[in-house]
Amino acid sequence: MPSIADQLSAVLGDAFASLELPRELGRVSPSTRPELGPFQCNGAMPAAKQAKKNPRELAQAVLDAISGHALIETADIAGPGFINLTPVQTAYDERAAEIAADDRAGAPATSAPKKVLIDFGGPNVAKPMHVGHLRSSVLGDSLQRLMRFRGDEVVSDIHLGDWGLQMGHLITELEEEQPDLVYFDAAFDGEYPSEPPVDIEDLARLYPQASQKAKSDDDRLAKSRQATAELQAGRRGYRVLLHHFINVSVAALKKDFGALGVHFDLWKGESDVDPLIEDMVADFKDRGIAEESDGAWVVRVARDGDKKELAPLILVTSSGASLYGTTDLATILDRKNEVGPDLTLYVVDLAQSDHFEQVFRAADKAGLAPEGSLEHVKFGTVNGKDGKRLRTRDGGTFRLADLISSAIERADERLKEAGLAADVGAEEHARVARMVGLAAIKFADLQNYRTTNYVFDLDRFTSFEGKTGPYLLYAAVRVKSLMRKAEREGVATGAIKVEAAEETDLVLALDAFGAALEQACENRAPNAICDHAFTLAQAFSKFYAACPILGADDAATKASRLALAQATLKQLELCLSLLGLEAPERM
Ligand code: ARG
Repeated sequence: MPSIADQLSAVLGDAFASLELPRELGRVSPSTRPELGPFQCNGAMPAAKQAKKNPRELAQAVLDAISGHALIETADIAGPGFINLTPVQTAYDERAAEIAADDRAGAPATSAPKKVLIDFGGPNVAKPMHVGHLRSSVLGDSLQRLMRFRGDEVVSDIHLGDWGLQMGHLITELEEEQPDLVYFDAAFDGEYPSEPPVDIEDLARLYPQASQKAKSDDDRLAKSRQATAELQAGRRGYRVLLHHFINVSVAALKKDFGALGVHFDLWKGESDVDPLIEDMVADFKDRGIAEESDGAWVVRVARDGDKKELAPLILVTSSGASLYGTTDLATILDRKNEVGPDLTLYVVDLAQSDHFEQVFRAADKAGLAPEGSLEHVKFGTVNGKDGKRLRTRDGGTFRLADLISSAIERADERLKEAGLAADVGAEEHARVARMVGLAAIKFADLQNYRTTNYVFDLDRFTSFEGKTGPYLLYAAVRVKSLMRKAEREGVATGAIKVEAAEETDLVLALDAFGAALEQACENRAPNAICDHAFTLAQAFSKFYAACPILGADDAATKASRLALAQATLKQLELCLSLLGLEAPERM
């Protein structure tokens, strides 16, 4: 059974069609002015414009056409031609029963599933993840959960940055520290050791060390560039080192992402597509897709009518190196061969907009992927209280690991202040603090539309009041404890009879889940689920305050209200999981 809003849309759609007006104009949605009725249809105004009729008269004709319909209790016209609708009370009973019985809690799967590749996370080997990677990871992970739940086939790829200058920095810095390592002996042709010569601490030290030196020393920079070019050209010892660096980094990243609850199907990187580059470039040259320009090879992507000039994509530099755009194009080719996605989403910082525009146009021009099948899912920055990009106190970039641990620490303090998770044992308390801390930062990130910048404010994010992750976890925990209490008292769920206004409002909130899912997937915008979860939790809290459940007078009411609570819990937990959050059993 479709949502009540969709059922009403079908009735109104028929009415519009019977008047020879576009069926879509009969679309019904939850009312923005619930005091006039829970649902509204705004189609009479545009329909009247099309048909050159008076909108109120047209709205009246629609009402005449639906008059007496079994689903509709009242329908009336307001203002210039808004149609306000109230469904019959049994529509709520039936819909609530269905949501209660449905594993998907009332959100239907898509009828047109796609194969979607999501490129997100994108950490660079050996550079510590920073706050920008938080947004990509949290948003990308939620999108993969949402689209999978909708019924799409999703393949996620971390797309490690492991092919650029940072690799040259690492190689040369390691050589400065340990020049005798066999990897640096160009004449060596034996077997290299299988044990990595560095651990993650070494990498974390070597990279900033080198990049710092290169900033003020051109020779040092040239050395890193040279090593990068030799690595890309296939120098054996460097290739083996690259793999050691990647393996060491990936092991650490798997731990970090695991702790964040973020999972990737593919752990591929820029370096993986190196074997495809030579042929791809040759093919681009053959077909005239690439043109020579001052010794480099470029793909021209500017178009007539562009508002701002888009530079050509540099495929091969004059010194023969391949760049970020080159590996992105080769990756599109690789994914076409290996995965065959209908749609590829790149969840990457807004600052890379021009880069993706270049890549998408070049891919289209070369026939690798039609432009509409590649999409840059952009996001804005996380700012400090000064409104500028979040920095550490001494002005450095904020490490993701530090950010997460400070959120967990603050969550721990908050729990203690509120006397929550007090008698669960130290280990469980720490687990709850972790869930609350992660929920705080993930929810704070997801609840804004992604291109909006937001201010990082741990005090606000970790609060148990207001539109926060911790508030939602607490709401779920309260229902869980109610369900346990009901079980102890031997109260079971039963047929749902929606009577009180707060019960109606709760069912209305539950009814809107499918639309929120659709919106979140279509706009690549998990904030629609954040809004929905928050509305649902608030509707539950009003219901809980107004309608005694275990204290209700008769057994049928108890059973009905308990069933409503159970359905709410199921949908709320689903929403949390779609956002990558998890609620503890108790707190
Ligand atoms: N490694 C890049 C960065 O840290 C992000 C990679 C994004 N994905 C891509 N296919 N370019 O900025």
